[in-house]
Amino acid sequence: MQTVTTLAQLQPLVNNWRMAGKRIALVPTMGNLHEGHLRLVEVAHQQADVVIASIFVNPSQFGPGEDFDSYPRTEQQDQQQLTAAHTDCLFMPSVQEVYGDNPQTHVSVTGLASLHCGQSRPGHFNGVATIVCKLFNMVQPHCAVFGLKDFQQYTVIKTMVQDLNIPIEIIGVETVRDANGLAKSSRNSYLSDSEKNTAALLYQTLCQTREAIINGNRNYTELARQALLTLQNAGFQPDYCNICQCDTLLPAQTTDRALVILAAAKLGKARLIDNVHFDL
Ligand code: PAJ
Repeated sequence: MQTVTTLAQLQPLVNNWRMAGKRIALVPTMGNLHEGHLRLVEVAHQQADVVIASIFVNPSQFGPGEDFDSYPRTEQQDQQQLTAAHTDCLFMPSVQEVYGDNPQTHVSVTGLASLHCGQSRPGHFNGVATIVCKLFNMVQPHCAVFGLKDFQQYTVIKTMVQDLNIPIEIIGVETVRDANGLAKSSRNSYLSDSEKNTAALLYQTLCQTREAIINGNRNYTELARQALLTLQNAGFQPDYCNICQCDTLLPAQTTDRALVILAAAKLGKARLIDNVHFDL
């Protein structure tokens, strides 16, 4: 695997691969890699000839008081894992390389960015859309692979690509979980062992809500209220639980058939997010 840190180093590699007719997949990450990230690399290999991963802890998607400074940075282990997963190239730029001295342009997916996680993390999705757009421009891949664990992020990026006519195929990959159902996340390292057991209840609660809907309950407001109560009683500080249309992430109507239940909750020092998406 070749590791590069500047656009000047990356460009000739990408040009050569493109001239050789290779299809290139990008897997953007913030590092501290786990099985979820490595599953994205695996899917990228199925979709393309060349896999480029990026590691960049993006300051602009962290709000004031969030965990930018303490976000786990494990570059050596990450490089070993990416090499073992046959990644062709790792792009690991500096903040200066990505943002320069006085950036004045950003990407904002206005409607979607203000819903759900956008309400408790104002500016977060502008930061995500901007960095992903920048990575797309720097790497110029044919396709890019994202986890459905971050369902709103996936939807924001799909919408940005459509709205800005970006010729990159966006591929979504199902969430990789621990045996107890807890979605793998870099932020799980903030949880104690006993909190990790409790944390599994987030996914269980979403699954129970999905079962109730599949069994015919269409009182979405009440179902969401019950789910929040269950989480609260288990020791979470829930942020939201919303039953939504799968593509717009607006509140689901009883006639909608493609649904997603999105939830975020704090447990100890970690803010966890998860979702279940399904068709009726
Ligand atoms: P990060 O949290 O490192 O996640 C990188 C990618 O891995 C995202 O597409 C995320 O959805 C996916 N992922 C995380 N946990 C997963 C799991 N358990 N199963 C499957 N996929 C999983 O998301 C980001 O970084 C950043 O916002 C980024 C897109 C890189 C922009 O900075």
